[in-house]
Amino acid sequence: MRHHTRVPYRLPDSPPGTTAPDHVRVVQVVDRPGIIDLSWGHPEVDLLPVAALRHASAEVFDRYGPDALSYGRDAGPPPLVEAIRDRLATTDARVPGPDEVVVTAGASQALDLAATLLLSPGDVVLVEEPTYHLAVRVLRDHPVDLVSLPFDGGGLRTEAAAETIARLRGGGRSVRMLYTIPTYHNPTGVTLDEGRRRDLVALAAEAGVVVIEDDVYRELGYDGSTPASLWSIAAPGTVVRLGSFSKTIAPGLRLGYLTADAALAARATASGVIDSGGGIAHLAALTVAAYVATGAYPAHVDDLRHAYRARRDALLGALAEHLPDASWTQPRGGFFTWVTLPGGVDAAALLPAAEARGVSYVPGRRFYATGDGGRSALRLAFTRYPEAELAEGARRIASAVRDARRR
Ligand SMILES: Cc1ncc(COP(=O)(O)O)c(C=O)c1O
Repeated sequence: MRHHTRVPYRLPDSPPGTTAPDHVRVVQVVDRPGIIDLSWGHPEVDLLPVAALRHASAEVFDRYGPDALSYGRDAGPPPLVEAIRDRLATTDARVPGPDEVVVTAGASQALDLAATLLLSPGDVVLVEEPTYHLAVRVLRDHPVDLVSLPFDGGGLRTEAAAETIARLRGGGRSVRMLYTIPTYHNPTGVTLDEGRRRDLVALAAEAGVVVIEDDVYRELGYDGSTPASLWSIAAPGTVVRLGSFSKTIAPGLRLGYLTADAALAARATASGVIDSGGGIAHLAALTVAAYVATGAYPAHVDDLRHAYRARRDALLGALAEHLPDASWTQPRGGFFTWVTLPGGVDAAALLPAAEARGVSYVPGRRFYATGDGGRSALRLAFTRYPEAELAEGARRIASAVRDARRR
């Protein structure tokens, strides 16, 4: 069971004991009593390092005083840029230069910034299908067209990407960008094959398409080694990698970074939003730098990997026990597994019955940007609940599926 009890913010004039309505909720998640909610791709709240970050932020105020509260250096404070570079020296195959890192408000804002810098109205952005539905929302904030690429158990089908680029360009379209999550993909948990990684960066260089590599799960591998990033094996200028501390420290920091060639990084730091407001998330950036400097970060990530590996195994084991007719992915890292229901059961239509039994998930269709796929699929996150509740969630889904198939 969860140890953390959420303390709702109360408006000053609300009577004691009133429950928090939506406008006084301080967090995004809405916990519904009685529902094991496997739809949220969030970290376990009991594993958020509250005490360590309180200590780190006190140290930041002691050390920097008012400089902690001033507009920050454009690309991010050097202690954090150095911490990111040091960490990538052990988690990836190439260390970015100090001028190849820009601190951002998470991967989401890094994606928005890359789209602002690289895209013109009417450009085509290629996305694999299925893909992270909220990255699609960020891209749709820009006046561009999304075109889908096929995806299978080995990740993005790169040969189809080459054909699609040629076809679109033959029709006079400007294809500028390809967004992909090659490592521990959201929503499927799939990891792009090594061969396809090489093909993809070669294609990007040849076709002059910038690959946006969403790399937020890199640190959360549960079996063996994590493949080198596309960014680390690509020719400079072909890949922008998005990193994040949301999954490994805390999403409330809204802190991440991009790695890019020095020219694009310089354009990012010269962008209006940074020129006007200074380095992004300056106080959070200094706090994370102080936390990493204590040496606690690698052990914290190991704890997360240990906990999430056990949770993944519990969920996959429970699916095998309760839903043997379904199929699902075997994620080697990340937060999610992707389940395909048996007998063509429609996952969106099933959701009310599943919720009535006390379990929730995201229907697969939500992750299709343009097509109509994923009808019988659903995404389950295994990070937010301990093993026994994950198993109970799988049992409840199986019960809803059995009933639907009987009808
Ligand atoms: C693939 C992917 N990219 C980006 C994000 C969001 O990252 P951030 O919190 O750093 O904006 C998520 C979170 O669910 C994600 O799964």
